[in-house]
Amino acid sequence: MKIKNICCIGAGYVGGPTMAVIAQKCPNINITVVDINEKRIKQWNDPDVEKIPIYEPGLSAIVKEARGRNLFFSTDVDKAIDEADMIFISVNTPTKTYGIGKGMAADLKYIELCARQIARVAKNDKIVIEKSTLPVRTAAALKNILDNTGNGVKYQILSNPEFLAEGTAVQDLLNPDRVLIGGDIETEKGREAVNALVDIYASWIPKENILTTNVWSSELSKLTANAFLAQRVSSINAMSQLCEVTGADVDEVARAVGKDSRIGPKFLQSSVGFGGSCFQKDILNLVYIARSFNLQEVADYWEQVIIMNDHQKRRFAANMVQTMYNTVAGKKIAILGWAFKKDTNDTRESAAIYVADYLLNEQAEIVVYDPKVTEEQIYSDLDYLGSRSGDANRQAVTVVNDSIEACEEAHAVALLTEWDEFKELDWQKIYDQMLKPAFLFDGRRLLEPKAKKKIGFEFYAIGN
Ligand code: NAD
Ligand code: UGA
Repeated sequence: MKIKNICCIGAGYVGGPTMAVIAQKCPNINITVVDINEKRIKQWNDPDVEKIPIYEPGLSAIVKEARGRNLFFSTDVDKAIDEADMIFISVNTPTKTYGIGKGMAADLKYIELCARQIARVAKNDKIVIEKSTLPVRTAAALKNILDNTGNGVKYQILSNPEFLAEGTAVQDLLNPDRVLIGGDIETEKGREAVNALVDIYASWIPKENILTTNVWSSELSKLTANAFLAQRVSSINAMSQLCEVTGADVDEVARAVGKDSRIGPKFLQSSVGFGGSCFQKDILNLVYIARSFNLQEVADYWEQVIIMNDHQKRRFAANMVQTMYNTVAGKKIAILGWAFKKDTNDTRESAAIYVADYLLNEQAEIVVYDPKVTEEQIYSDLDYLGSRSGDANRQAVTVVNDSIEACEEAHAVALLTEWDEFKELDWQKIYDQMLKPAFLFDGRRLLEPKAKKKIGFEFYAIGN
């Protein structure tokens, strides 16, 4: 089966970069990425390729190469579905905010809408691919909708979860540790569909790195991978607190532990807490699934990863207040970094949002600088929490375009995203312009403590 036309529903952090890379590597396949968000599609089509809606190192060059050739962005979802042999569903699957499973389960309403739209529009057989992260057994629900509301055409449902991380999306897509494809491998038609997708990835990925499994294993592997990764961060963060009271240094502990080849060195960077759109939502989803099968111990085990992460964010902010003589009311605090990690403009679930909110509740005045996050986004993140009115947020929080300006006359600086540029700042100048004592709280262990203390800072790093 040779695929000529692909449609991807959802032009977000996954749909956009993933399709751009497939388009680059498979110039003979036409790919249309569709979205109901007109603004987002307009940005993807911006003649100035630097204005595409997602910042990822290397992405704009790939979009520039493929866009208009075999990569298209459109709001005409019906047309793209109609023309496609293969449809990727890459829409958001956030945590439910209402009804049964509120605050835990994945909200599958966007997925279901896609399925119903495909069923309504499709006039020939299609391969439908779950690219979004989904609860195990979602493919069964998809198939049910497609088969029962469709026009009699045949569907093959595949699970092809995405493992890219933001900030390194292009590299992760070009050179993935593995690609995972789950399908109905018991049947001939199912195997054909799986092979069609394998062929696409095999254009640039060695076959031995393309794993095929049954659908349920594939769906569950994605949740498992995120749970394991987040668990490592919570594990090292738990140790960071123990380091602080015992005189151990969490980086030294991480290095010593990571040298064990069974443990490995990656994902042991202690921090103010993990953020991002997925770790929390996917673990909550896993916990919900375990509870719904009455597996309380399994659910409690994974829930602890989230509990530890919330604790880490809260204790970082609480430590700031405590260190600054138990009050930050009316004090200016500069926050350097708002994105949930470096090299992305994504702020979803960023620890900075929660630290800022905590400090605002203590009546601090906040000034924020982030090299890639807009002022509008920062206010929208704070407003979303609903802790105070939009006006109150705008009164207490200022957003500036320069890190030195952010720190002027500040009582304290909190470094919350590990942007490389923060290492190179003129910290002497920053110190000179701050009120004294000048407090510096490093939530990313980015800065060298000795040098900062030598300048005169009251320096605090997580896990030290
Ligand atoms: P996103 O919010 O950036 O993008 C999703 C897009 O889907 C939005 O632009 C939205 O308008 C669009 N959409 C929703 N319903 C639609 C519909 N019915 N028709 C057309 N468009 C529709 O989300 P994302 O970060 O790209 O994540 C998508 C999925 O991929 C999620 O399930 C997520 O868990 C998973 N995932 C994300 C990442 C990541 O790094 N962000 C990595 C791996 C997997
Ligand atoms: C994560 C996974 O790494 C991807 O494999 C997965 O595809 C993706 O989630 C997803 O499903 O959305 P992402 O959230 O983009 O990717 O970024 P990570 O690099 O995993 O970082 C997540 C958070 O953990 C960040 O806030 C980061 O600063 C923090 N982190 C990460 C640490 O605090 N310490 C570490 O050692 C590593």
